[in-house]
Amino acid sequence: AWLQESTLTHGVPEAARRMALCGPADDPVLRTAAAEWARAVRAACGESPEPLAADPGGAPSTPRVVMGLLSAMPRGLREDAQTALASALSDEAYAILPVDGQGAAVVSRTPAGVLYGVFHLIRRLRLCEPLHEPCVSSPKNAWRMLDHWDNADGTIERGYAGKSLFFRGGQIDFDEARVRDYARLLASIGVNAIVINNVNVHETETRFLTEAHLPGVARLADVFRPYGIRLFLSINFASPVDLGDLPTADPLDPRAEDWWRAAADRIYEHIPDFGGFLVKADSEFRPGPFTYGRDHADGANMLARALAPHGGVVIWRAFVYNCLMDWRDRRADRARAAYDHFVPLDGRFLDNVLIQIKNGPMDFQVREPVSPLFGGLSDTNVMLEFQITQEYTGQQRHVCYLAPMWKEVLDFDTHARGPGSTVAEIASGKLFGRPQGGVAGVANAGDDVNWTGHSLAQANLYAFGRLAWDPSLDSAEIAHEWARLTYGDDPDVVRAVMGILMASWPAYEAYTAPLGVGWMVNPGHHDGPNPEGYEYSKWGTYHYADWQGVGVDRTMATGTGYTGQYHEPVRSLFEHLETCPDELLLFFHHVPYTHVLHSGKTVIQHIYDAHFDGVEAVAWMIEAWRRLQGRIDPVRHERILARLEDQMQRAIEWRDVINTYFYRKCGIPDARGRYIYP
Ligand code: GCU
Repeated sequence: AWLQESTLTHGVPEAARRMALCGPADDPVLRTAAAEWARAVRAACGESPEPLAADPGGAPSTPRVVMGLLSAMPRGLREDAQTALASALSDEAYAILPVDGQGAAVVSRTPAGVLYGVFHLIRRLRLCEPLHEPCVSSPKNAWRMLDHWDNADGTIERGYAGKSLFFRGGQIDFDEARVRDYARLLASIGVNAIVINNVNVHETETRFLTEAHLPGVARLADVFRPYGIRLFLSINFASPVDLGDLPTADPLDPRAEDWWRAAADRIYEHIPDFGGFLVKADSEFRPGPFTYGRDHADGANMLARALAPHGGVVIWRAFVYNCLMDWRDRRADRARAAYDHFVPLDGRFLDNVLIQIKNGPMDFQVREPVSPLFGGLSDTNVMLEFQITQEYTGQQRHVCYLAPMWKEVLDFDTHARGPGSTVAEIASGKLFGRPQGGVAGVANAGDDVNWTGHSLAQANLYAFGRLAWDPSLDSAEIAHEWARLTYGDDPDVVRAVMGILMASWPAYEAYTAPLGVGWMVNPGHHDGPNPEGYEYSKWGTYHYADWQGVGVDRTMATGTGYTGQYHEPVRSLFEHLETCPDELLLFFHHVPYTHVLHSGKTVIQHIYDAHFDGVEAVAWMIEAWRRLQGRIDPVRHERILARLEDQMQRAIEWRDVINTYFYRKCGIPDARGRYIYP
C-alpha cells in the first residue's frame, strides 16, 4: 500500500543513516517507532541506520535522526521541543526539529506521538523532502477509529475486500504478521482505535465477552498495542439475557448493571488498555433499552458506569430509526429520526459516552445533506461516522475517492454557535467544549492481497486517517501524497492517478441516483441500479417519482418538516427552492421534471446529461490508466484496468436504467437527441 519498501533511487540523506532513541527502550510503542524508522531506511537504501547515543556529549556530532520522549531528550533539544510543543493540546502531538544541520529530532510527550512523528518522517524520506524542516502536528480528534463490521465466521458485512483479517470459522483466528502489517498501516495514518467486530452482534460474537473468547481478543489487542491502537468490541445490549445469565437486560435493573460491571472487570483483566464498547441498540432489530421502556441515555450510562473505573468509553450509535415504515404515509420521514431520538436526551449522557453520528441523516448515500444532529447536541460528546467501505458508493468495483465528500461534511457550517460552527469543530469536541470527540470510519479492508479489493480504494483508507488527524487537509493534496507514496514519483503516473481519483466521486454521483435523492439500488446487497427497489418497502427510503415529478418534500411549509432541524440560515437555505443547492434538490423538494435548476437545466435534462457524462468520465479514466502501461508494475496495472473496465459496464447499466426509468415516467425526450431506450 502506501508503505512501499522499494529502494529509493535518489538515495537517502546522510542523517537518515544514524539514529538515536531517547526514552525507555523497553516501551513497546517507542520500540515500534525505532523499528519502523530502521525498516524504512533499510528499504530505501539497503542498510540499517547505525545506532548512536542521543547526546554526543562533547564529541563533534554527526547529523542523525533522534527520536523519543520530551522528558528524555538531551538538554538543548528538550528546551526547543518544549517550546515547540507548548501550544499543542494533545499528548499525541509531535514536533520535528532540526539537529546539527540536516538531522532531525522527533519529539513528543508520549510514545504514540513519537510513533506518529516517525511515520511523518518516513513520508518525508519517501517523498524526498528535507527531514529537518521544523514542524509541529497535533491531532484535532482524540479518537481516530476504525469500525470493522467483521463477523466471527470470517465474513464482513458490507465488505468488498475478501474475508476478515481477525476471524475464521467462528473463532478469533488470525495471521499475526498480516494483522501487524495492518496495524502498521493504521498507525502510519494516525488511527488510534479499532473496533474488531460488526455492530450487528450475533450469537458467537456475543460470547466475545466471555472467558472462552477473551484470551483471543487479548491476543489481537497485543498485536495492536505496540502501534498505539486501542481495541474495542461491539456488544449486544441483550448479552445478560442471551448468555443465559439473567431474565432481563433492563438498564435500570441493578442485576443488569452488576452483570456489565463484572463483564467489564473481566475484560480489563485480559486487556488492561481496552478501549470500550460500540453499541448499536434499538436499531434494525438489534435489542436495546426500548424493550424495557427505557431510553438511550439509560442504556448508554449503565454501560459507561461499568467501564468508567477502567478508563473505557461507550460509543453509542445514533443510527436509530423505524425500519418498519409505511410507504403510503408521506409525512413520515426516516431522515428526521436520529435528531428526534437524541436531541431530547442532550445533557443526560455521562462524560465517557460518545454518540456516534453518521455523516448524513439517511445511510451513507453518494449525496446527502449533513446530519442536523451535529448542530443539535451541545451538551453531549459526539463522534462523526463515515463509511470508508463503499457500500453505496460502488462496492470497491467502482473507483470512488471519498475524501472530497468527507471534506464537505467536515467543513459544513451548522451555525449552531453562529458562523464557523463546522462539523469538524463539533466532532472534535472543541465547539461545545466537550471532553471527548472523534471520527470513526467503517473499515474497507479485508484479507485480499491488496487490502481493499480495488487498489485505488486504499486511497480512501489513507485519506480517512489523514483527515481524522487533521480535518483541514485538502483532499487533492492527500490524493497527491497517497499517489506518490504508493506509485512513486513518475509525474505522469501521479497526474493520472490524481486525475482519476478526483474525477471519481463526481462521476459515480453523475451516473447513479440524481440530485441527492439516493437509493435506487437493489435491496439487500445494495449494488447496481433498481430505481424502485426500495420505493414500496418498509425502510423509509423513497423518492416518489411519478409522471410529473420526483423528490421528497422535507420542507416545513408543505413537507415532513425535516428542514426545521437545522439552524438558521441553513434551515432557510434548504427550505426554499430558490436557495436549495442543486445537488440536494431532490432530497429536500418534490419538483416537476421541468423545474429549472440553478445550472439553467431542467431536472430531466440534468438527469440525462449527468448520466451520459458520468459514463464518459469512466471512459476517460480507462484511457488515462491505459497510458500508464509500463510505467507502474504490471500486476497493479492490470488489476486496476480490469476493475475500470468492469466499472464501465456497470456505469452503462446505471445510465441506461436510470435514463429509461425517467423517460418512461415523463415522456420528455433528451434535448440533445441521444438514444434513450424506450
Ligand atoms: C446500513 C447497512 C447495514 C448496517 C447499518 C448500520 O444500513 O446496510 O449493513 O448494519 O447500516 O450502520 O448499522
